[in-house]
Amino acid sequence: MPLARRLERLKPTAVNTILQEVRQLRAEGHQPVSLMRGAPDLPTPEHIVTAAQQALSDGRTGYPDNRGEPTLREAVARSINRNGGPEYSPDSEILVTSGATLGIHAALGAVLDPDDEVLVPEPVYDAYLSVIIQLGGRPIPVPATLDNGRFTWDPDQVNAACSPRTRAMLINSPWNPTGTVLGNDEWLRLLEVARRHDLYVVSDEIYESICYPGHRHCTPAALSDDARQRTIIVNSLSKTYSMTGWRVGFCAAPAEVISAMYLVLQQSSRGPATFVQDAAVAALDGPQQCVLEMVSEYGRRRELVIAALSDVPHVRVLSPEGGFFAMADARDLERPSNEIRRSLLVNHGVVVMHGGAYGPSAEGTLRISFASGGDNLTHGLELLANGLRALGS
Ligand SMILES: Cc1ncc(COP(=O)(O)O)c(C=O)c1O
Repeated sequence: MPLARRLERLKPTAVNTILQEVRQLRAEGHQPVSLMRGAPDLPTPEHIVTAAQQALSDGRTGYPDNRGEPTLREAVARSINRNGGPEYSPDSEILVTSGATLGIHAALGAVLDPDDEVLVPEPVYDAYLSVIIQLGGRPIPVPATLDNGRFTWDPDQVNAACSPRTRAMLINSPWNPTGTVLGNDEWLRLLEVARRHDLYVVSDEIYESICYPGHRHCTPAALSDDARQRTIIVNSLSKTYSMTGWRVGFCAAPAEVISAMYLVLQQSSRGPATFVQDAAVAALDGPQQCVLEMVSEYGRRRELVIAALSDVPHVRVLSPEGGFFAMADARDLERPSNEIRRSLLVNHGVVVMHGGAYGPSAEGTLRISFASGGDNLTHGLELLANGLRALGS
């Protein structure tokens, strides 16, 4: 029986494509070590798990409020404000979603008309592209430049990429895959472009808590009244509280935008499970020491990655400012990044992402995840360093 023709325009995410290759190798008896996924190996903090168990025992198993339980919307508003964001009304300006994934879908679904264009920084978190296409829009990747070991997104180029059809920019900072954290000055210049062309700024802030010394996340919504009006904050508890499998996230935006997003969202979701929402309240309102501890653990892992590759010829690690991915610049190997990745996987037993998966401006680079630590990381880094040495000899 035929399936929908629209599927021809959608792509699996790069991670899912490579996982397929890895599964195949595992079925053949190989045991590659993965430095690929953005799945933290740290457990969800105890008090959050306890809150979920308590909520289950209390029978919190019915349908949730589809916009998000009122207690969670209140906790979200408090948390955004505590982290330097503006005040949002829990009643009308917050929406709870099943992870940032559905938040992005609802945000774009609320603002895009057919053939509307969405500017995305390239290298781009590839999962954005098919969502834009699925909603009838057109992703417009605007290449970043790699200067002095840092990817930057030049506002002049962003401005030049705008057309009368441009409707939004979709940005994540800390930026997966590059590790760049946009500073206030960079945001202000991008917001100026957004103001000039009257664009929405969809700000995916999922890595907000993971910033390294000297860098701090700032939501663009906090930077001016105009910015607050055009920013749609998308966030989730996946990375901040090591809750990737709980599927709980949230959005914040002016009331009319949230109400449009809610209309979109309710067509495909009733929101995260009610007891999960109670646990999310415990996460957002509870002690934040667990987050600080996770961030210092990622900081230690980041140093391990930098040290492990420091003396590998032809390869230079870009020290990430935030998130738990490091890009390795392997352009001097003069091979397509996918070929390097394949060789590392098949001949050296280590899985990383090829930069080319995120767009041409990351060609020749590799993305190394340190979301998993311990032996997995030390062993994986050893395999990676040896593999890259072999490729460069
Ligand atoms: C930039 C970015 N946005 C969104 C997501 C998906 O987040 P969630 O688990 O909340 O759906 C990820 C996951 O890796 C991500 O890296």
